[in-house]
Amino acid sequence: MKKEFLWWRDGIIYQIYPRSFADSNNDGIGDLGGIISKLDYLQELGIDAIWLSPINPSPDVDFGYDVSDYNDIDPKFGAMKDFEKLIREAKKRGIHIILDLVLNHTSDQHPWFLESKSSIDSPKHDWYIWRDPKPNGDPPNNWQAVFGGPAWEFDPELGKYYYHMFYKEQPDVNWRNPQVRAAMLDVFRFWLKKGVDGFRLDVFNLYFKDEALRDNPPKVGIRAFDQQEHIYDVSQPEMYPLLKEIREIMDGYKETYVVGETFLADAEHTATYVGNDKLHAAFYFEFANNRWHPTRFLNSSLKWDAALSEDAWPNNFLGNHDMARPATRYCFGEDDRRARVAAAMLLMVKGTPYIYYGDEIGMRDIPIRKKSDVLDPIGKRFWPIFKGRDGCRSPMQWDDSPNAGFSLADPWLPVHRNYQQRNVAQQQSDPDSLLNFVKKLISIRRAEPALQHGDFIPLVEEPRFILAFKRVLEYDSVIVILNFSNRNHDFQLPEGAYQSLMDGSSATGTINLKPYQVQLFKLMS
Ligand code: NOJ
Repeated sequence: MKKEFLWWRDGIIYQIYPRSFADSNNDGIGDLGGIISKLDYLQELGIDAIWLSPINPSPDVDFGYDVSDYNDIDPKFGAMKDFEKLIREAKKRGIHIILDLVLNHTSDQHPWFLESKSSIDSPKHDWYIWRDPKPNGDPPNNWQAVFGGPAWEFDPELGKYYYHMFYKEQPDVNWRNPQVRAAMLDVFRFWLKKGVDGFRLDVFNLYFKDEALRDNPPKVGIRAFDQQEHIYDVSQPEMYPLLKEIREIMDGYKETYVVGETFLADAEHTATYVGNDKLHAAFYFEFANNRWHPTRFLNSSLKWDAALSEDAWPNNFLGNHDMARPATRYCFGEDDRRARVAAAMLLMVKGTPYIYYGDEIGMRDIPIRKKSDVLDPIGKRFWPIFKGRDGCRSPMQWDDSPNAGFSLADPWLPVHRNYQQRNVAQQQSDPDSLLNFVKKLISIRRAEPALQHGDFIPLVEEPRFILAFKRVLEYDSVIVILNFSNRNHDFQLPEGAYQSLMDGSSATGTINLKPYQVQLFKLMS
């Protein structure tokens, strides 16, 4: 791999959940105008790209992950001209745009599905996965939907079942149909022509299902979905040639990027999708799901890196729109010290960092107290065992004005009640805030190529308190030392005299780290 700055490898990607970022027309739902108005903030933060959760028209059963038109913008977010403006304004600021493509399934309101279910003779009937019931009326096989219940929905008019891995309002398309394949590949071309720089592919390793639709074998698990080995409904080999074709399209444009969200895949399997003629990157979830222990994070990071081939580069995240925020999982109350350590780790370990909106100010999940408050349908379905994903999707906290400066109208989800103390404006004015700490780390990372694409060398194996590693690029290196504990700890620096990139102090030999202290050292020449 070339070592000059490459935005998607060396830069930082920021995920925006558009409904919740900033609302420019005061209808309570975030929009493209809102995002445009915050581009200066993002540029100042120092990020290189934004990944937008879906902005296509959607009936919002799954809040955008059920698309009813791939080549348009949902009016609640704005119009195509707003998106074109977003691309222009982002480019001016050196910010790349990554769109979320949800191509495993459509909305049941997509004209393709409406046509498909209109008749078995419809030219688009085969665009989805339809099968006859078993002679006793049962679904065609034992497959389950991950959002609960059987993955087959019966359509009484056609007398057939259709397949859906998620909600029944999200029918899976039939990627084996050449017309579907061609139509989907055109979606890539459409947005590339508009000037987007990359895509995040939602659950791409679900596109193909076993052609014979064989039953999955049983295994022990709690939910019906977990009581099966997903060998026939997930990760079929037909994905590899398709990725090659997608990559060829991407490579027709300069410095584009595709990152795939893998579903139910371990590090080794996830890595098989990444490389020169495949995806540029894929998400691997173990790092983000760790509990607070330095050895856990170290091992996940090493595992992910080791699994990837020479022509691949790791990426890391601690939060996204499907999981509780890192500050909710790791911090106690409003104490941000662990959030600082987590941010430093995310920005300094080997791999492209993804920051979920609001994590730079340590946003906490909103508490979900009553079933009747839940908007995310899986939260309703699995209440109270799982309360859904509303918690991590609350409006961005910009300032201490009503609704945290997100909107003048009542927001679609409540703002966290800590917003008067925890917001961007407040943290901008406090030199010791998490936001200013994150900005400082980002600027250090930006100035040190070793932190971007250097090798990763752990300095302590199986650490209990201190995660310490070196990032090395040719003759250059940076030592990163993160105290995961709430106590002071000594750390023995490797031989040499060092200068701190955090506070300019000099150090040699044994240093003492305060609780949750972050240190970055360079060897003095
Ligand atoms: C993964 C997305 O991240 C999630 O939000 C969505 O519900 C499912 N895919 C279905 O599209």
